[in-house]
Amino acid sequence: MAIRLGILTAGGDCPGINATIRGVAKTAINQFGMEVVGIRSGFQGLLTKDVEVLTDKSLTGLLNLGGTVLGTSREKPFKKDLENPDIDKPALIIQNMKDLGLNCLVCIGGNGTLKTAAKFSLMGVNVISLPKTIDNDIWGTDACFGFDTAVSIATEAIDRLHSTASSHNRVMVIEVMGHKAGWIALHSGMAGGGDVILIPELPFNVENISKTILDRTKRGKSYSIVVVAEGIPTDGTLKAGEYIAKLIQEKTGLETRETVLGYIQRGGSPTSFDRNLATRMGGYATELIADGQFGRIVVLDGSKITSLPFEEVSGKLKLVTEDNDLVIEGKRMGVCFG
Ligand code: F6P
Repeated sequence: MAIRLGILTAGGDCPGINATIRGVAKTAINQFGMEVVGIRSGFQGLLTKDVEVLTDKSLTGLLNLGGTVLGTSREKPFKKDLENPDIDKPALIIQNMKDLGLNCLVCIGGNGTLKTAAKFSLMGVNVISLPKTIDNDIWGTDACFGFDTAVSIATEAIDRLHSTASSHNRVMVIEVMGHKAGWIALHSGMAGGGDVILIPELPFNVENISKTILDRTKRGKSYSIVVVAEGIPTDGTLKAGEYIAKLIQEKTGLETRETVLGYIQRGGSPTSFDRNLATRMGGYATELIADGQFGRIVVLDGSKITSLPFEEVSGKLKLVTEDNDLVIEGKRMGVCFG
C-alpha cells in the first residue's frame, strides 16, 4: 500500500517540534518514498481539511527553528463541543482523512494529544504519536523533546538571578512551568544551585523554607534562590511565585522578589540534545509506519529509541518521586524541597 501520512502538532508548542516534523518527513520521503501531508493547527486542521503537501524542499531550515511551522491548537475532537453539539467530530475527521487520502496519522503532542491519538487508534485509524512537552511528564519515556531546552533556559535565568540577589542581599523566587509535574523546577533548580526547590509532587512547609533561608543568613550567605513550579498549592488567589515570595518575606523579614519565567521557556531554538532526540524519534516513527506497527508512541528507553503501545502510556503521568536521585543528592547537600 502506498503510504500517504498526515502529520500534525497539537497542544502547547515547544522547541524541537520542527526538528521532529523534519525527522519524520525527510525520512518518510527520502528513505521510504512515502507522501507526507502537513496538517495545520492540530486536530483543527483535520476538521477543516487545512493541509499542505510537504516536500524535501519545504522542510529546509526546520532543524533549529522554535515553535511549529504547522501551527497548533488545543482542539480536542472527543470533547463535547457545546457550540456545535450536532457535529460528530471524530467521525468527520475520519471521513476527512479518507477524502484527503491519508492512511496514517502522526501526532506530535503531549499527554492530551496522546489520549486523542489513542481514541482514534481504537476507532481503527493508523496512528503513531511522538512525545512533545517541556513538562517531561509523559509516562514511559525517559525524555520528551523540548524539556532539555526549557531546563537550559530556566537554568540560565537562575544563574542570572544569583548576581542580582547577592548584590541586594535578597531572596529571589523564580516560578517556572509545570502544573502537575515538577521536572523543570527540579532540573533547573539543581543545575542553577537553588537553595529551595518546590514542586507539586512534594508537600512544603513554610517553617522549613524560612528555617533554610535564615540558617543560610546565619552562615554568612547573604542571599537565597528559591525555585518554584507553577503548580504547587497556593492560597488560590496568588500565583505560585508571588505566593511563596510573600510567605518568605513575612516569615523571615528578608527582602524577597519574584520572577515568573513564563513562555520564554517554550520559545526559540532547541538545544542540540533536543534536536537529535527529535531527529531520532522522528526517523523511528517512520520505521514503525513502514512496518505497519500503529497505535504506538515513540519513547526513549535509557539511550535507545523504541516504542510502547498507547494503552500502556495513555492516561498516566510521569511525576517526580522522593527517590529521584537529584532529589536525594539535593537533600544530602542541604537543598530544601519543602
Ligand atoms: O504543557 C506545557 C505547558 O508549557 C505547561 O507547563 C504550561 O502550564 C502550559 O503549557 C501553558 O500553556 P498554554 O498557556 O499555552 O495553555
